Amino acid sequence: MNVLVTGCSRGVGLEICRVLLEQGNTVYGVARSYTDEFKALEAEYAGKLFFKSIDLSDSESIRKSVFKEFVGNKVVLDVYVNNAAMAYDDIVTNLNLDRLKAMYAVNVFTPMMMTKYAIRNMLLHHTRGSIVHISSISAHTGYKGLAMYASSKGALEAFSKDTAREWGGMGIRSNVVVPGFMETAMSSTLTDDQKDRIYKRTSMKAATSVRSVAETVSFLVSEKACSITGQNIYVDNGTI
Ligand SMILES: NC(=O)c1ccc[n+]([C@@H]2O[C@H](COP(=O)([O-])OP(=O)(O)OC[C@H]3O[C@@H](n4cnc5c(N)ncnc54)[C@H](OP(=O)(O)O)[C@@H]3O)[C@@H](O)[C@H]2O)c1
Repeated sequence: MNVLVTGCSRGVGLEICRVLLEQGNTVYGVARSYTDEFKALEAEYAGKLFFKSIDLSDSESIRKSVFKEFVGNKVVLDVYVNNAAMAYDDIVTNLNLDRLKAMYAVNVFTPMMMTKYAIRNMLLHHTRGSIVHISSISAHTGYKGLAMYASSKGALEAFSKDTAREWGGMGIRSNVVVPGFMETAMSSTLTDDQKDRIYKRTSMKAATSVRSVAETVSFLVSEKACSITGQNIYVDNGTI
């Protein structure tokens, strides 16, 4: 399969690339930075992994930068994984509209535009393709300081559900993976005390495994999951 993965430079996105490559897929990765970790994976999977540096906050240029210059119509796209995101953490009474708009551009507007063009590619090639969005458990359990970020994930979940409904008749599926707290760059600013409090809210008293999230994405885009669409799959160590 040909797979487009956003946020491939580190963390969950890099692990999703790794798992999909291990299973023989060709991966087109997008992020701003061309990191050493990504380069190492590229060396291991020469000819199967491609990279383009794109700032996904520019929602208007996505058609050109991603779907004309990188994954053009000649590429038969089977899968789009929307993983790239940023967190705007603050309490609601401090909400700043410019920062909110900047986060929504990356977390919501660009993924929606990319879904549009990914589906168009799938329709062009009659591909029974699949889309996976990465959400966050914060949209379901609530955490102080994450209202703005969680709201962007809630928007994605609704978008995925309705996309599944709209395009299921053409064999195109859309699902969401809802991870719990993971040890990545995004969560690196938290103190040990804050992390402990988060872990205490999980059944397994630990951070969610990045590998487990990536393996779940890989399952959802595979033929094994051909009857799964419009779903949210929680990979969160049992967060309450
Ligand atoms: N970490 C957690 O605890 C946690 C929990 C639940 C859900 N999630 C979700 O899991 C997903 C992956 O998060 P992570 O923890 O792996 O975060 P991360 O380590 O911060 O990685 C984020 C990725 O998104 C890319 N990205 C961010 N802004 C971008 C932009 N403007 N243009 C292009 N690429 C951009 C980054 O690449 P560049 O910086 O190179 O552009 C990076 O590859 C996200 O959707 C996040 O919301 C994370």
